Amino acid sequence: MSGTNSARLIRQSVQALKAYVPGEQPQGAGWIKLNTNENWFVSPTVLAAVASAATNDLRRYPDPVCTDLRTRLSARYGVDLKRIICGNGSDELLTMLIRAIAGEGDRIAFTEPSYSLYETLAQIQNAAPVAVPLGEGWQLPVDELVAVNAPLTFITTPHAPSGTAYPISDLEAIASGCTGVVVFDEAYVDFGGDTALSLLDRYPNVVVLRTMSKAFGLAGLRLGYAFGSEEVIDALYRVKDSYNVDHLTQVAGCAALDAWDEYARVNRETSVRRDRVASELQRRFGWKVWPSATNFILVEIEHDDATEIVSRLKREQILVRYFARPRLDRSIRMSVGSDAEMDRLLDALDRVVG
Ligand SMILES: Cc1ncc(COP(=O)(O)O)c(C=O)c1O
Repeated sequence: MSGTNSARLIRQSVQALKAYVPGEQPQGAGWIKLNTNENWFVSPTVLAAVASAATNDLRRYPDPVCTDLRTRLSARYGVDLKRIICGNGSDELLTMLIRAIAGEGDRIAFTEPSYSLYETLAQIQNAAPVAVPLGEGWQLPVDELVAVNAPLTFITTPHAPSGTAYPISDLEAIASGCTGVVVFDEAYVDFGGDTALSLLDRYPNVVVLRTMSKAFGLAGLRLGYAFGSEEVIDALYRVKDSYNVDHLTQVAGCAALDAWDEYARVNRETSVRRDRVASELQRRFGWKVWPSATNFILVEIEHDDATEIVSRLKREQILVRYFARPRLDRSIRMSVGSDAEMDRLLDALDRVVG
């Protein structure tokens, strides 16, 4: 299609859009994939539940409001059923939040850096993204965010891609200082850091967003959930697609919550492994390793070329994440995989660094 035609067919804001670029998906076998913070573990009981739900019943539409799953979430987190909504990944919930809250030209605030999809989604909506820089050590710019007081603010906590944990006092200061909706995106909170769940009852503008992609190892099925006031959650139900979470995903989500203790044990092991690998990276290569409360590690490399290390690792079939963005262009982010994967990563780094 020619440029002239597309000018007439596509909204101008979409023509100008720089689409979100997900982490590379390797083709073929033998790869160690440490570029999108997936879990290295899935509970066998979840796999069994999904397998036994793959029956003739799949001809029926799924429950549009995920009743069984929300009932379990309500019991687990102590939040009323009417204040919970599930989505096709937390990415879909981010879309719904923007659809419901931010109109054309409305400000949507987030920190820079943070999850770059926030900005892309804001642009899709023709809203006005406001990127507020984090402090030198990735501290939350609380006063600046409150000063912006956007109709919608996204806070990644613990932070990605740095891994920094934020104290609940900072989270509360933003929730209480802003009159708009404040979304605490807690994709990584099961690996460490404070949760904003305790703010829900006091601040009707607070939304807490969770995903099963990280702590529950279900990135391939797409399941996220949000907690908020009845008013905000009701607005999300109005704008959501009818059958946004498929049946097998709802079954997997229920089974994952039933396997809570098993996941908690595995994720504690992952956090211990993260700290071991972080000290090794510091000791072997002298890199700056940011303290992490997540299942990934961000390192800053002063004396070597980060992009060269990423390419050499790729030649060894190991994928890690590089961000060609201000403040991150000398850094590499690595997910914490299994013990064997981390040993292979450290061995490969011994070969490729320097
Ligand atoms: C901070 C943050 N929020 C949300 C997501 C999206 O999660 P989901 O897989 O549930 O869409 C990610 C995924 O990487 C993330 O890093």
